[in-house]
Amino acid sequence: MRVIELSEYGGPEVLRLAERPEPEARPGRVRVRVAASTINPVDQGIRAGVMGEFPKPLVLGWDLAGTVVEAAEGFHAGQRVVGMVPWFASAHEGTYAEVVSVEPGWLAPLPEDADLVAAATIPLNALTASQALGLLGVHSGQKLLVTGASGAVGGYAVQLAARAGIDVVAVASAGDEDHVAGLGAKEVIGRADLDRQRVDAVLDAGVAGPSLIGAVRDGGAFVAVVPHGLPEPERGVRVSRVEVEPDAARLRELVASGLSTRVADVLPLADAAEAHRRAAAGGLRGKLVLRVSRG
Ligand SMILES: NC(=O)c1ccc[n+]([C@@H]2O[C@H](COP(=O)([O-])OP(=O)(O)OC[C@H]3O[C@@H](n4cnc5c(N)ncnc54)[C@H](OP(=O)(O)O)[C@@H]3O)[C@@H](O)[C@H]2O)c1
Repeated sequence: MRVIELSEYGGPEVLRLAERPEPEARPGRVRVRVAASTINPVDQGIRAGVMGEFPKPLVLGWDLAGTVVEAAEGFHAGQRVVGMVPWFASAHEGTYAEVVSVEPGWLAPLPEDADLVAAATIPLNALTASQALGLLGVHSGQKLLVTGASGAVGGYAVQLAARAGIDVVAVASAGDEDHVAGLGAKEVIGRADLDRQRVDAVLDAGVAGPSLIGAVRDGGAFVAVVPHGLPEPERGVRVSRVEVEPDAARLRELVASGLSTRVADVLPLADAAEAHRRAAAGGLRGKLVLRVSRG
């Protein structure tokens, strides 16, 4: 099978198309032919070598959408599925690969007519948004500030929070205000307006940084998405960092819930390096998705 692997850390050019044997079928695992995999910031960080040292050559990729290869663990052959490989906690065999062997608890079934490219943008980022909202403990009628609402984690968080009756103040990228308002935000602001906010809770998906804790009322809550985004607790504000974990039951709910997805472009697997270059350049609206196979 074809994979994109890297043997050294560095820029996008370290990503190479390679041939590997397909993983073998084994008990407790489900083999999936990957149709689509999403480029995420964590993939760029691992590639650059800033997320730690891992055995190489390695295959990047957390998100997958595809079809089950053979019946296993309650899934049937040909079934469409979506899933998230918890890359750090697994064997570092990611989803930039034509076939992956995954735990059933990382997967959720998709409808037969599901768009596999759009579905591949859901698992990592919608689960992160959902788990971040759980950490915040915000409820209907409270005011939540979401940064990076033009991005995937922020965009899903806006949708999920708005559906729960939370008043969302969302930070949109310049020119993207209408899109973010359409996700259900009560108020859409720019980064320059962050200083003036006073809210019950903050989800800092755009990594505005620790100083944003100043926007949270005494006794409120703040969730960061990266270690360097975590403030020192102050004034009784609960501070935590989300670290996404697979959750098959929640993922099933999320894919069935009609979340609005956002795909910037679709590139063939062989163009993974180009996809990483474009992701690093910024300014995208939506995710770049790798078309891995016709699976
Ligand atoms: N801890 C976890 O478990 C976990 C899981 C998933 C993701 N993450 C992290 O969550 C973050 C968001 O991921 P993503 O996939 O949603 O990324 P994304 O789709 O690239 O979105 C990031 C968004 O943040 C905006 N942004 C960038 N810098 C900003 C700033 N200084 N202030 C406000 N907004 C800013 C970007 O807007 P522009 O395009 O205008 O710059 C973009 O809209 C990443 O840091 C990622 O590593 C963490």
